[in-house]
Amino acid sequence: MIPSPSSGPQIESWTNQKPQQKHAELSHGPADAQSRNQGWWEAFPMTYQSWDKDQRLPATAGAFAEMDAVYFDSNPYLGEAVDFAAFRGQKVLEIGCGGGSAACRFAELGAEVTAVDITGNAIAICRQNALVKGVQVDARQMDAEKLGGLADASFDFIYSWGVLHHSSDPAAAYRQVARLLKPGGRWLIMVYHKNSLRYWGKGLFQLLGKGRLLRGETMESVQRFFTDGYYHKHYTADELAGALTQSGLGVELTAVTHMSSRMIPFIPEGLRKALKQRIGWLLVARGTKAG
Ligand SMILES: C[S@@+](CC[C@H](N)C(=O)[O-])C[C@H]1O[C@@H](n2cnc3c(N)ncnc32)[C@H](O)[C@@H]1O
Repeated sequence: MIPSPSSGPQIESWTNQKPQQKHAELSHGPADAQSRNQGWWEAFPMTYQSWDKDQRLPATAGAFAEMDAVYFDSNPYLGEAVDFAAFRGQKVLEIGCGGGSAACRFAELGAEVTAVDITGNAIAICRQNALVKGVQVDARQMDAEKLGGLADASFDFIYSWGVLHHSSDPAAAYRQVARLLKPGGRWLIMVYHKNSLRYWGKGLFQLLGKGRLLRGETMESVQRFFTDGYYHKHYTADELAGALTQSGLGVELTAVTHMSSRMIPFIPEGLRKALKQRIGWLLVARGTKAG
């Protein structure tokens, strides 16, 4: 166990296990489904540091700024397609805030921000991030599937980036989003994309190249060898739109994004961009609640 730095967020002790070891430990433990999800993320808070690194916690204002920069640089869709300044004076909810890079950006630009995460560690890091920036974020440890402590129709915008595919019952969380939005309120949810080069390419390598097919693994189960979280559901755009619509969220658009240069090195940038929009790893859906 590694103690948290005294100058940084006061988080509970975390693990020096590798993600795979943690996954195996959780799957053999007595935990219920959602505790496994939570247990994985308590052990590996999202700080944009390598999972293997010993010291993964930002402790200084500079380190938080660096974490935020990686968040926005590695997710260029946010800079291109999300106007963080558009919510000035409005009530924004971030679900699964991790280290709080987005929550703090909304707050810096004048939104009234509530940020929830299932782990106490993420909430501690998010609070520290807001503190070093001098912004107000109401950060609370809550499960996206059980947001009963938040009032119906109370948010203008609900944002969740890379979170709900890790939850044990994502549809329960989508229903919460529909309940919490004001009429006319907007939402944005990003999850993992099934029709992606990463899902199929890395999956096939694990199944066939590493012979895991012979050991009873499936395309879905081998994802854990290279993807974060205990659960990591992947959706096609139609599957996601169907699940969201059934949960009461009318989908206005879906978009595919994210193609690491490590996945296909040595290709022209224009081609990478075209591929990214078709077989990228991240699937975004957006919409507006009927007024
Ligand atoms: C991949 S990280 C993403 C964090 C942040 N959104 C970002 O993009 O940096 C996933 C986050 O979702 C949180 N999470 C997973 N399941 C959750 C749930 N049911 N309710 C709230 N947070 C959840 C995890 O604790 C973790 O902080």
